[in-house]
Amino acid sequence: MSIKRKTRELFERREQMLQGGGEKAIQKQQSLGKMTARERIIALLDEDSFQEYDLFARHEGRDFDMDKKNLPGDGVITGTGKIFGSPICIFAQDFTVAGGSLGSMHARKITKIMDHALKMKVPLIGVNDSGGARVQEGVNSLAGYGEIFYRNTLASGIIPQISVILGPCAGGAVYSPALTDFVFVVDKISKMFITGPEVIKTVLGEEISMEDLGGARVHCEKTGNAHFFAESEKECFEQIKSLISYIPWNNKRKARVLRPRNPKNAFKIENVVPSDPKQPYDVKDVIRALADGSDFLEVQELFAPNIVVGYGRMNGQTVGFVANQPLILAGVLDVDSSDKAARFIRFCDAFNIPLITLVDLPGYLPGVDQEHAGVIRHGAKVLYAYSEATVPKITLILRKAYGGGYIAMNSRHLNADFVFAWPFAEIAVMGPEGAANIIFRKEIAGAEDPEKMRRQKIKEYKAKFANPYVAASRGYVDAVIEPEETRHFLIHALEVSETKSVALPDRKHGSIPL
Ligand code: HXC
Repeated sequence: MSIKRKTRELFERREQMLQGGGEKAIQKQQSLGKMTARERIIALLDEDSFQEYDLFARHEGRDFDMDKKNLPGDGVITGTGKIFGSPICIFAQDFTVAGGSLGSMHARKITKIMDHALKMKVPLIGVNDSGGARVQEGVNSLAGYGEIFYRNTLASGIIPQISVILGPCAGGAVYSPALTDFVFVVDKISKMFITGPEVIKTVLGEEISMEDLGGARVHCEKTGNAHFFAESEKECFEQIKSLISYIPWNNKRKARVLRPRNPKNAFKIENVVPSDPKQPYDVKDVIRALADGSDFLEVQELFAPNIVVGYGRMNGQTVGFVANQPLILAGVLDVDSSDKAARFIRFCDAFNIPLITLVDLPGYLPGVDQEHAGVIRHGAKVLYAYSEATVPKITLILRKAYGGGYIAMNSRHLNADFVFAWPFAEIAVMGPEGAANIIFRKEIAGAEDPEKMRRQKIKEYKAKFANPYVAASRGYVDAVIEPEETRHFLIHALEVSETKSVALPDRKHGSIPL
């Protein structure tokens, strides 16, 4: 055969594979407002940067007439590419081919690109759109999932792993995303569940729609399984690109420094925080006042909004912000916000991203529900995550830092590197009202005018303890600073922490309360 004919044959073979599941299946995919797997990859990556592998891989199903079926690429596209010039590995399941179901070759293509990502130490992006284990391939499909889960676990903390849910993800298809660092979902398109509505109806007799069971909002607001919510696939890809710009390629690198073109912030710090401790304010405005150009990429915005976590830059360097949100539940720590914060802190620590903690909270949320939901165990995760983190850890106490909340939010006692406080910060075991009621109970009860006495005792307690100076006198706070000076202090603290090096005690691994 001449070179020309061989080239032509390659061209024809490629063309056949690029058809995916065929015209009809593609039309169905598009009618649901979904891009095809290949379109998604092209939309996400830098122009002309995608290189595909294993295009000619053939599925291995032999039973139930599977051997007669041609499944192009076995329902998954794998390859390498770039985002903002940074290398990444990617796979995208093709729902038009056997519902993106996972057979053994499909799984092998995924594990091969995962191995590559781990070897080359670059981020892995998985675009999931799958009916789960391919029923016709039986235990071989289950084996495939197991091999993926194993690699997700080995890669954890070494390379960033990103999952995008762009269709139904049923059964085993949800557990790989659950093992990765970030899960992106799109309204109306993403569905994640272990057992679908039909199984639930059969087993429990309950009717529920797929959307209400495991739609994008459910996983962003209720379960916390998803980290980023988008209205469209296009918006979702922009979010992924933004995230990639903030995080490093692997755990041995630092995130790329992007000096701000315009470091001026739209938010003025002195206008943001009211000095009245009872008046709420939006802590995101404080973050925007501190971060370069007011840019802030929030993670898990819709889940446990009483804590805010996300990425910004300080003088070009990526930092992870963890901040109590006084607008919601006064910024308390509870079961969900503890989980959210601890997970974020651990990702930052694994990937060399310094932490800036903004404190304003009355403590942990009281109540039977919280106690029975395990606020002790979940709250302990925050203590653990901060204590074991060895990246630069900087704390700023804005207003209230009471009780367990004071300790948990990266206090000096958990080995913070720098602790700053604003002049109107209140660092105490509890709020002045509660404290006065306890320690002056007898005086108040025995007074001629108990209410007057109560007010006086609250004032006394406030004067003594509701300020940052007792903590500063003990060295628990390094500097009491003015709001206007904050950005300067934080950037200086980051600069002098650049070479921080701390070794934890030698051990296989700790045992974080899960
Ligand atoms: C084989 C599958 C499949 C699967 C879908 N298909 N899921 N083939 N194995 N798991 C095929 C369909 O037969 C159909 O083929 C094509 O994909 C498109 O599927 P439709 O049902 O027409 O699409 P849609 O109406 O959009 O519904 C999508 C769906 C539904 C909700 C995902 O297909 C579904 O419920 N599938 C089964 C989901 C499931 O129970 N998976 C769990 C597997 S067990 P044709 O040829 O007709 O076009 C599992 C355990 C692993 O994953 C546990 C590990 C821990």
